[in-house]
Amino acid sequence: MNHYEEHAEIVRQEQLTPEIFRLTLKAPEIASNARPGQFVMVQTSPCYDPLLRRPLSIHQTIGSEQVQLLYKAVGKGTRRLATMNPGQKVNLTGPLGHGFDLTGKQAICLVGGGMGIAPLYFLAREILRTSTPPKCVVLLGARTADEFGPLPRDFMEIGVTETYFATDDGSLGHHGFVAELLPQHLEPGHHWTVCTCGPHPMMKAVVSRCRKQGWECQVSLETMMACGISACLGCAIPRADLSGPYLHVCKDGPVFKAEEVAWL
Ligand SMILES: Cc1cc2nc3c(=O)[nH]c(=O)nc-3n(C[C@H](O)[C@H](O)[C@H](O)COP(=O)(O)OP(=O)(O)OC[C@H]3O[C@@H](n4cnc5c(N)ncnc54)[C@H](O)[C@@H]3O)c2cc1C
Ligand code: FES
Repeated sequence: MNHYEEHAEIVRQEQLTPEIFRLTLKAPEIASNARPGQFVMVQTSPCYDPLLRRPLSIHQTIGSEQVQLLYKAVGKGTRRLATMNPGQKVNLTGPLGHGFDLTGKQAICLVGGGMGIAPLYFLAREILRTSTPPKCVVLLGARTADEFGPLPRDFMEIGVTETYFATDDGSLGHHGFVAELLPQHLEPGHHWTVCTCGPHPMMKAVVSRCRKQGWECQVSLETMMACGISACLGCAIPRADLSGPYLHVCKDGPVFKAEEVAWL
């Protein structure tokens, strides 16, 4: 799959919560080739500190020219990114990896937790744009209602009619884990495909519920990544049967069929 390196101009930098930012960049080659679930490697500093690029999912593309990223400032690289302003340039490589597969799906449920919600917005938009599959339910989880920022409204505005929430403190929606919403909102009659991204324990719980119901499940995995282009082998994960060569999240993923990988 082709990827590009672009010296992308910042169009907008929005602070959505004390820690979460939304960055819009002009990157036409990446924008016109990106698929939901793919990511970019971002050079967060023009100098050598931090040296390595940071992986961020594509939150959405806007027209054929702009790419939007939704990120949490957690460390050196993302905090540095958060200080950058419109007009400044950021070097990006992408779109990278394999995205979600929507081919022939009848009913899709998106389950996102924390910053794992970032790629699911692009996916929801794509599902609604193509109108296939006809049924789309979105389940979102966070620690508190504030952590969602404007995302609940964003999903509603693109036309997702069935969005349900779970928070650890009960400040929005279900008081508990987002995986607990699956049996409440997915009718057993449909042949569901569940696409999920978020913290590992959340995805493990989602995978386990899908297995019990016989639903297909696609997972978007996160690992530390030094290169993002299959050169360093630092993103290796074991296969489901723990045999054979390791899978690499940057090249073979980040989206996998749940049954391909080991849930240790
Ligand atoms: C394919 C992929 C897509 C991603 N998409 C997004 C996204 O859309 N939005 C977003 O906010 N984050 C996303 N991440 C996580 C993001 O890459 C890390 O938060 C970022 O690299 C941290 O860099 P830093 O220099 O700010 O922090 P560092 O100083 O490198 O680390 C700060 C803290 O974050 C932890 N951390 C670093 N990298 C990761 C990682 N890959 N996964 C989990 N924890 C990590 C470190 O262990 C440390 O505790 C994604 C990761 C991958 C692999
Ligand atoms: S991040 Fe280097 S091989 Fe995957």
